[in-house]
Amino acid sequence: MTVSQYRARKSVADIVASCEAGEHQLTRSLGAFSITAMGVGAIIGAGIFVLTGTAAAKYAGPGVVLSFVLAGLACAFVGLCYAELAALIPVSGSTYTYSYATLGELTAWIIGWDLVLEYAMGASAVAVGWSGYLVSLLGQFGVRLPPELVHAPGIVTLPDGSTVHALFNVPAAGIVLLLTALLVMGTKESARMNNLMVLIKLTVVAAFIGFGVGLVNTEHWVPFVPANTGEFGHYGISGVLRGASVVFFAFIGFDAVSTAAQEARNPQRDMPVGILGSLLVCTLLYVSVAAVLTGLVPYPQLNVPDPIALGVDAIGKPWLSLLIKVGALAGLTTVILVLLYGQSRIFFTISRDGLLPPMFSKVRPATGTPYLSQIAIGVCVAFTAGMLPIEILGEMVSIGTLFAFILVCGAVLYLRRAESDLFRPFRAPGVPVVPIVGIGFCLVLMAGLPLDTWLRLVVWLAIGLAIYFGYGRHHSALRAKTDPKVRFQ
Ligand code: ALA
Repeated sequence: MTVSQYRARKSVADIVASCEAGEHQLTRSLGAFSITAMGVGAIIGAGIFVLTGTAAAKYAGPGVVLSFVLAGLACAFVGLCYAELAALIPVSGSTYTYSYATLGELTAWIIGWDLVLEYAMGASAVAVGWSGYLVSLLGQFGVRLPPELVHAPGIVTLPDGSTVHALFNVPAAGIVLLLTALLVMGTKESARMNNLMVLIKLTVVAAFIGFGVGLVNTEHWVPFVPANTGEFGHYGISGVLRGASVVFFAFIGFDAVSTAAQEARNPQRDMPVGILGSLLVCTLLYVSVAAVLTGLVPYPQLNVPDPIALGVDAIGKPWLSLLIKVGALAGLTTVILVLLYGQSRIFFTISRDGLLPPMFSKVRPATGTPYLSQIAIGVCVAFTAGMLPIEILGEMVSIGTLFAFILVCGAVLYLRRAESDLFRPFRAPGVPVVPIVGIGFCLVLMAGLPLDTWLRLVVWLAIGLAIYFGYGRHHSALRAKTDPKVRFQ
C-alpha cells in the first residue's frame, strides 16, 4: 500500500454534489439570529459553571479573566476557518467530513477518532458538572447523597475537612443514561425548546452578573495575576496560559453551528455571523462572570464542583441560589444532549464510509435514530463520567478539540491552493495569515496542558490507528471501489 493510497479522497465537489442531490435535503430556514442562539445553546455549559473555579483556584487566580480572553481570541481565528468550510462543505460530520474531503481517509479517521474526545468525553465532563450542581441543589433542601457515590473513585476531601473514599459518580452516569434513553426514543430538540433553554441559561448568567457586580470586593483581585510558584502553570503568566487551555473547554460547541450550514438561509452572511456572534456573546459573558466570581469569593476557595453556587452564596439571596442551580442543571442537560447526539451522528458518517462496523449506522425504522450506536455510546460515556474527575476529562476534551481545530485551519490553507476555483459562499478574510495564527494559538493552548494529557492523547491516537489498521482499512468504502481485496461492510 502506498502513501498516496492512504490519502485516497473524495473531491469537495463530489461531496457537495452528493449532498445537494441527496436524500437528505434540508430546508433553508435558519436565519443569523437562530444560528447564533444555537451556538450560544451549545457553548454555555460546564466550562463556565464548573471549570472557571478550577482554573482560577489552581492556575490563574483572578487572571482567569485573561485566560478567557486568550481562549476566546484563539476560537475567533479558528471560527473564521470553520465558517469558510461550513459554507463550502455543508455536510454534517463536522471536521471528519472536512478532512475526508481534503486530507484523505486516514487523516479523516484520525480526526474522527480524535473527535470522540470532544463529543463523548465532553459529554462525560459536562455530566460530572451536572452531578456537582445536583448535589448542591439537593443540599439546599437538606437532602445529602452519600459522598462515596457522587465522586470519581479516589480520596475526596469534604467541605467539613473530613475525607472519604469515593467509589463512583452515580448521578453523572445516571443523567447520561437517561438522556441516551431519550435520544434512542427519537426525542428531538425542537428549535423552540432550544431557544427556551438558551433563554434560561442566559437569564441565570445575567442574574449572576447583575446581582454580583455591586458586591464585588476589589481586594480579591489583588494581585490580579498571583506570582508563579516556581512550577510551570501554577499562577503567573504560565498559569494564565494553562488557565486558558482549561477554560478553552467553555468555548467548545461553536463548531456545532457549522453543522447547520445546510439549513442557513444565507450561508454567506449567516454562518460567519452565527459562529462569530455566538463566540462574541459567550466571551463577553464569560469574562464578566469570571471577574464577578473572583471578586466575590477569594480564588483559592473556588476549586469546588459548583463554584458559581459558591459565588451566589456570597451574594446572600437564597432564591437566587435556587434559580442559578436549576438554570445550571437545565443548561448542562442540553449540552450533554447535543454532545451525545453529535457523537452518534459522527459515528454514523464514519460507519457509512466503512471505517467502523455497520452497527454504527444501523437505524431503527420506527424512530429514525441510530439506536445501537447511541446505546453503545451512552454506556461508555456513562462509565467514563462515573469513573473520572472533571479536570482530567476537561483537559482531554481540550487537547482533542485543539488538535481537530488545527486540522480545520490546515484544511482551509490546503483547499485554497488545491481547489482554488471552488465557489466559496464565505471566504475567511486574511488567508493565509488567519489560519496560520489560528494554528499558532491552538499550539500555544496545547502547550499549556500538562504532559500527562499529552501522553493520554498519544495513547488515544495509537488506539485509533490500531483500529484503523485492524478494521477500517479492510472495510473502507472508498478503497472497495479500487481494491478487490477490500470488503465494504
Ligand atoms: N462548551 C461546553 C461546556 O462548557 C462544552 O459545557
